[in-house]
Amino acid sequence: MQQLNISSNTGLLGLFGYPSRHSLSPVIQNKFLRDNKIDAVYLTFEFPEEELETAFEGAKSLGLLGLNITMPYKEKICSLLDKKDKIAAAAGSVNTIKFNRNEYFTEAAGFNTDIDGITESIKKAGHEIRDKNCLITGAGGAARSAVFAFLKEKAGKIFIYNRTAEKAENLLKVFDQKNSGKIFILYSLDDLKKRYDDLDIICNCTPIGMNLKKMIDKMPLPEDINLYEKIVFETVYNPVETKLVKKARREGAMVVDGLDMLINQAASSFKIWFGVMPETGNLKEVLLKYTI
Ligand SMILES: NC(=O)c1ccc[n+]([C@@H]2O[C@H](COP(=O)([O-])OP(=O)(O)OC[C@H]3O[C@@H](n4cnc5c(N)ncnc54)[C@H](OP(=O)(O)O)[C@@H]3O)[C@@H](O)[C@H]2O)c1
Repeated sequence: MQQLNISSNTGLLGLFGYPSRHSLSPVIQNKFLRDNKIDAVYLTFEFPEEELETAFEGAKSLGLLGLNITMPYKEKICSLLDKKDKIAAAAGSVNTIKFNRNEYFTEAAGFNTDIDGITESIKKAGHEIRDKNCLITGAGGAARSAVFAFLKEKAGKIFIYNRTAEKAENLLKVFDQKNSGKIFILYSLDDLKKRYDDLDIICNCTPIGMNLKKMIDKMPLPEDINLYEKIVFETVYNPVETKLVKKARREGAMVVDGLDMLINQAASSFKIWFGVMPETGNLKEVLLKYTI
């Protein structure tokens, strides 16, 4: 990797999360910074929840240019911000913060680029979302972004399947009546199978499939369903070829993988901080070296 010329003028950006040391965001953002000849570095900060407010105030005081926020702080950080853009406010979830400074005051502005990351990845792969029926597995932060993304793009029906139905019900409560009328909770795998033929897009928003002993050999859906002609959108990016993605490729589905989302949400964060949409050309090849 190219050496950075760090000086007393070098700016700092960072990622807050717990855990966050596994994240590929530093690889991506430091590449964007180098490619755009911006004198700044991007580092990872990992700390438990009781340190969140202190860490955030520290970042503000120390003059950080901006932050990314990851699990489990995307919702909790909202109450510390001075303002949020419309979509982040509606989603109640922020993954990007820009610090705007003047002589007297530092303003922390929050954004959610996960939502754009999802829609951009699907669109760049050549697929329409409008009028498509979507299944989301999971009901956490990524699922919440996926629901917002699909509503924004005027998808058809949106089905949520989560192992804890109550969490899916809580997610539904976030939406007004106009939108919640398009969202349906699936309470069992039998329910899911009944609706399966109507689905166009399947979006895994659980960590099932990720590089953890308990997850890597699992699928978020029953193994006996056929994915032929479905659009399978995976949020897990390490491994890129999750069990779901492998099955999807084998059975003739169209796959949008977790690295696509990661790259697109990162590019949108960079644009918020520096006003430039970075080139993402060979980035996926670079990132593949960091995944199993
Ligand atoms: N590619 C990207 O750019 C990107 C961006 C954001 C997130 N992600 C990925 O998206 C995934 C979810 O992240 P998140 O922020 O939404 O996490 P989260 O808020 O913790 O939510 C996780 C969801 O998955 C469900 N879940 C967890 N373990 C499960 C298991 N063993 N079996 C069944 N369901 C399970 C949880 O169900 P319960 O409600 O029952 O606990 C919950 O609904 C992670 O793998 C993350 O890395 C990727």
